[in-house]
Amino acid sequence: MHEITILGLGYVGLTMAACLAEQGIKTTGVDLDKEKIATINAGKSPIHEPRLEEFISKALKAGTFKATSDLENSLRTSNITFVTVGTPSLPDGSISLEYVRSAAESIGRTLNRTQNYHLVVVRSTVIPGTCLEVVKPILEKASGKVCGKDFGLCSNPEFLKEGSAVQDMMRPDRVVIGENDRRSGDTLQDFYHQLYEREMPRLIRTSLANAELIKYANNAFLASKVSFINSLAHLCEKTPQADVEVIAEAIGLDPRIGPLFLKAGLGWGGSCFPKDLKAILAYAREQNIELPIIDAAIRINEIQPIWSVRKAKEALGELKGKRIALLGLAFKPDTDDIREAVSIRIIQRLLQEGSFVSAYDPAAMENTRKLFGKKIVFADSAQKCIQDADCCILITEWQEFKRLTPEDFRIRMHEPILIDGRRLYNHEEYSGKLNYYAIGLGSCASTS
Ligand code: UDX
Repeated sequence: MHEITILGLGYVGLTMAACLAEQGIKTTGVDLDKEKIATINAGKSPIHEPRLEEFISKALKAGTFKATSDLENSLRTSNITFVTVGTPSLPDGSISLEYVRSAAESIGRTLNRTQNYHLVVVRSTVIPGTCLEVVKPILEKASGKVCGKDFGLCSNPEFLKEGSAVQDMMRPDRVVIGENDRRSGDTLQDFYHQLYEREMPRLIRTSLANAELIKYANNAFLASKVSFINSLAHLCEKTPQADVEVIAEAIGLDPRIGPLFLKAGLGWGGSCFPKDLKAILAYAREQNIELPIIDAAIRINEIQPIWSVRKAKEALGELKGKRIALLGLAFKPDTDDIREAVSIRIIQRLLQEGSFVSAYDPAAMENTRKLFGKKIVFADSAQKCIQDADCCILITEWQEFKRLTPEDFRIRMHEPILIDGRRLYNHEEYSGKLNYYAIGLGSCASTS
């Protein structure tokens, strides 16, 4: 039976730790943040993620999980350490390896004092070459041992989505193992067999660099797919009777394209896509390679949220002094996360234009308040948010916004102008009753 240390209890590390422990695998989560450790050991999740808290408290009760800041002790009692520390963006788009380096240093120092073979697995998102050229030398130097002989090294990217991270961890569509050597890969494969038993997902065993690059290729492709449909949406708006939703549905039926990540909207955000696309571009630049598709995906995404502000201006003539209601602030539904959320850019632009902004989000208001304070008004319901507004922009497609009827908008708003940035509403129902603008919808797209 493998025993696991997870170093870095952020969103990936904590989800992974809770899932392994819930499956009965002895897991210790290590983090420097003592407050976070106390919260977790009290059975609480420091992040908003479905089922995570339930998994944490179940595992704590079963005795298969604990959080600690004592890496040395944890490493001694485990045989595999997953490194899940953050790799934040630097101003030039490249990533900082500061935490990865210090994790490798600490692990190496502890390995120096242990006897048994230990496998180190890098799960943080790092640019190709990091495991081989950065992590491995640090581990070898600090431990005084030889990688591939005294200890092992793998790269094992994760593909967890916020809002379904627990499910993604429990039932991944694939497991990618980048290995320094055969024994390292065998050990990690054996661990995953223990975790998934008979429902073992597709396994890819490959080089360290391939595993590192797979993660970036994955996110860059998905983000580019969304940017593709987002730019097509604008062509649809200029084309009478065109509708990007119908086009996405039809092209998505082609198995070579597939239906997912073809939902046009105000752009992509979150903690991964923006950071990862910038990082892969920065890496390519260093290699003197151009990646024009990824470059274009980013540029499309930069202007995408502003479409909604432009539409509001077209509808109202000018935005100065106008009251604009924003529904949804999180970068996607079912999360309180506003990192790189398009709402931030929309709010900034509206404030520049001199508008009054009222906003409502079921989960992300606290985080948004930290950024904008009293510059905008936070309503405590969607109904109150649209009250007396001159225009409403739907930014995040929370299901609860679907309960708003055209009458709600008509009765409450000063001007019933609705800009549907996520195609949440049925345009045939709404366009007859409101001044309704939807992303990717040409004039008279109705077929009835
Ligand atoms: C993403 C990756 O999906 C995941 O594999 C990786 O590990 C981390 O980054 P996440 O950031 O949780 O996960 O969000 P995701 O569900 O992928 O959505 C990213 C952004 O794209 C969101 O802003 C979302 O609103 C947007 N999006 C997604 C669209 O605009 N249209 C779509 O069709 C799909």
